[in-house]
Amino acid sequence: MISVQTILQQTPLRRDAQILLCHVLECDQSFLYAHPEHELSTAQVKQFNTLLKRRQQGEPIAYLLGYRDFWQLRLEITPEVLIPRHETELLVETALARLPKSHCQVADLGTGSGAIACALAYERPQWQVVATDQSTAALALAQANAKRYKLSIRFYQGNWLNALPPGQQFDAIVSNPPYIAADEPQLQQGDVRFEPDSALVAAQQGLADINTIATQACHYLKPNGLLILEHGYRQGQSVRTRLQSLGYNAVNTLTDHAGHERVTLGVLPDPMVLE
Ligand SMILES: C[S@@+](CC[C@H](N)C(=O)[O-])C[C@H]1O[C@@H](n2cnc3c(N)ncnc32)[C@H](O)[C@@H]1O
Repeated sequence: MISVQTILQQTPLRRDAQILLCHVLECDQSFLYAHPEHELSTAQVKQFNTLLKRRQQGEPIAYLLGYRDFWQLRLEITPEVLIPRHETELLVETALARLPKSHCQVADLGTGSGAIACALAYERPQWQVVATDQSTAALALAQANAKRYKLSIRFYQGNWLNALPPGQQFDAIVSNPPYIAADEPQLQQGDVRFEPDSALVAAQQGLADINTIATQACHYLKPNGLLILEHGYRQGQSVRTRLQSLGYNAVNTLTDHAGHERVTLGVLPDPMVLE
């Protein structure tokens, strides 16, 4: 028999070990502090050692646990989707702050686990939220996450806005698309190594999908509709230039908690309003 205290003393990745131990014991961290003498069963020790070995080989905690907390939600996560990032909450905050509380039609493109769409539908149940992805696995997972929280979201599969039935118009289009250039060393480091390339990598120095979405969105936004895009911390200027060249107004970039340019927005002009 081996106790919580002995396991934690023997394990090098202490913080990760605590998280994995809580997962195996189905307890919270306070239990580990309150009951260091608690003994694990043989099966629990085996499960813990297997998870720890995978973690030592670099596998992200979220894939080992099968979930990640995002906004107020615990989302199921598999290796077929991007692990939702804390930075992406800036995009959610921005949409909530800028759009009317009452009635709104919003599209989340490249929804992955459903993080953005679920957070928006959770906060604003009165909104009509649609979510798209080209990945079958991502859409199935996003649907499961929405169902778990009884969120009303319509899902469509396909290539960016081509996924949507023709004629739909939105008050806002939001997206955290792939934006890493294929030759970025970052792709060979940390958790990112285990995430799908299809969720991370884009051509044209990482800007191809952002450019496609910004271009297509002109045809799917209502007059005065809002486009909100997450991007890499060195891409702010390129995204602003692109949005301005497409005719968006009030183009503006917001910084994340680390002070990095992270989210750029633009408003589609109303053709009936003469400048
Ligand atoms: C960076 S991930 C974002 C996932 C999720 N929105 C989030 O913030 O955690 C980008 C997502 O875009 C999807 N994607 C990539 N190319 C696409 C395309 N051409 N059309 C639609 N979705 C695409 C990927 O499958 C992936 O789920």
